[in-house]
Amino acid sequence: MKISTLAPANIAFIKYWGRRDHELFLPANNSISMNINGCKTHTTLELVESDQDHVLVKFHKQEYKQLLPDSIKARNIFDQIKRIRQLAGSNLKIKMKSENNFPADAGLASSASSFAAITAALLLAYGLKEKFDDKQELSRQIRLCGSASAIRSAMDGYVEMLTGFDHESSHAVQIAGENHWNLVDIIAIVETGKKKVSSSQGHELAETSPYFQARLTEMQSRLDTVRQAILDKDFTKLGPAIEEESTSMHAIMMTMKPPAYYWGAGSMRVMRALMDWRDEDDLQAYFTFDAGANPHVICEEKDAEEVKHRLESLPEVQWTILNRPCKGVQETQDHLF
Ligand code: DP6
Repeated sequence: MKISTLAPANIAFIKYWGRRDHELFLPANNSISMNINGCKTHTTLELVESDQDHVLVKFHKQEYKQLLPDSIKARNIFDQIKRIRQLAGSNLKIKMKSENNFPADAGLASSASSFAAITAALLLAYGLKEKFDDKQELSRQIRLCGSASAIRSAMDGYVEMLTGFDHESSHAVQIAGENHWNLVDIIAIVETGKKKVSSSQGHELAETSPYFQARLTEMQSRLDTVRQAILDKDFTKLGPAIEEESTSMHAIMMTMKPPAYYWGAGSMRVMRALMDWRDEDDLQAYFTFDAGANPHVICEEKDAEEVKHRLESLPEVQWTILNRPCKGVQETQDHLF
């Protein structure tokens, strides 16, 4: 029987950068995100009698290729397959196809949607439906594949990931559903190259920044501000807080040993343009970056067309991806094979 799932990426308003436990992938701090409907992973999986797993992946505008365990992310996927097969007490291998509709590794949370879609499909295919239906448990299962930001894609809309202190207490919780607040996330693509320092490396290096502990302390009040701003739909509180947060994380990245510089000239251009548009035209839009050069520009629905138009008129912006809040990972009957 074929199982298919569809999972969104998510954009973090409060970021996860650094872990307190590298084996259980427990993040050093809580994080908060919104699922984004324009960046998705679609996965189809079938159990087969075979001596090996057969995994095909396809990234934006590329061909399907066989996944080989030649990177941390790929090894994490094979480990996740083995772990869930053992959990189910099965000997059956898998045939799987998984595709992203957006560029990978450019700071677009590519592995969050992949790991969420793949973990959900594995649980359903191996008969562990109760772990899929219980979204907190689903989020723990997703975390174990090594991409802790992916656990936020387990639930609908606006989600908080709790750092917790052990496997049981580190899971996602929903702040509000996808229809609560129609924020828009316009991703301005200014670079498409693969990032030089992966998030997995970054989580291990974060503590080498002399400012890491200071960030963990100063961010606590920002977590409350962002959570409350979402509940109150207060954009004047949310906007400045998410910019401050993004820059706080990038300060850590740039002061790690060795450092990681994700911003490029196009990133800086967008940051300055947004500040000008706010000051000069009262156009309220704010940036946030993940581990990449491409800004996610957050605004309210009423300003989305204008912001998108202005971003697209900057010469550094190649194209934009417009996202609205959406549900977390879902099962679908739309199969890829
Ligand atoms: C900068 O290791 O969970 O996006 O790179 O997608 O595997 P992937 O993510 P992960 O680290 C994400 C770090 C971040 C901030 C965030 O999304 O919280």
